[in-house]
Amino acid sequence: MKIIHTISELRDHLSAYRHPTFVPTMGNLHAGHLALVRQAKPLGDVMVTSIFVNRLQFLPHEDFDTYPRTLEADCQALATAGCDVLFAPSEKELYPEPQGFTVQPPTELANMLEGHFRPGFFGGVCTVVMKLFAIVGPRVALFGKKDYQQLMVIKRMVEQFALPIEVMGGQTLRADDGLALSSRNNYLSPTERQEAVQLSLALKAMADALRAGQTDVAALEAQAMHALKARGWKPDYLTVRQRHNLQTPDSAAVASLTANAGLVLLGAARVGNTRLIDNLEV
Ligand code: PAF
Repeated sequence: MKIIHTISELRDHLSAYRHPTFVPTMGNLHAGHLALVRQAKPLGDVMVTSIFVNRLQFLPHEDFDTYPRTLEADCQALATAGCDVLFAPSEKELYPEPQGFTVQPPTELANMLEGHFRPGFFGGVCTVVMKLFAIVGPRVALFGKKDYQQLMVIKRMVEQFALPIEVMGGQTLRADDGLALSSRNNYLSPTERQEAVQLSLALKAMADALRAGQTDVAALEAQAMHALKARGWKPDYLTVRQRHNLQTPDSAAVASLTANAGLVLLGAARVGNTRLIDNLEV
């Protein structure tokens, strides 16, 4: 695996290939990232991963400074997974001056759910992804479905800017108890780690209720929020949305959407100081 830190060297190296496939990451890689790399590998003639902790998508009080930087371990894992090129630019390389031009995603998609609780997050994500796309020039780019809204926002961005890139989602990988793999799971204490599975269990309970005929979405959401709060969590949202636009479904449509795989349950909640997100398609 070739490790490249500058835009010019990356462009030079990739000029020999026609079909780069690309998995952008912020490092601190886990099996979910590596599964994306393996999924991407056969889809082109060179598999590129990036590691860049993107300041633009962190709020001032968030964990930009403490976000784990584990380049050496990440390199070993990527090489084993079959990555051909790792692009790991410094902040000065990617943002040599303050990034004045930015991508602002539409409010109806980006200001709800994660965007509501993390204002500016999707603008930061879209800006860096657009820049990475311009640098790497991928034909195919893969993002984990765990960040469900992020995947949708990026798909829309690519469509609206007519970028010649196929954006694909990779399945969420889970620990044996069902906790979705995430770099932020490393922040959990042993007790919090045991408790953390309750977020996915809460979503599963909501899915079971929908399949059993519950159509009162507001009541279902309130009940799920209440149950997590009672265990000491601080939930931001546990919600039933339509898969295609992440809007709340009309109660009249809930039964048919459940029957036709049209819904997704999304949750974000804090256990201790760690904010976890998860989702479940129904
Ligand atoms: O999902 C992530 O790790 C980040 O949001 C991404 C897509 C690499 C952009 O910084």
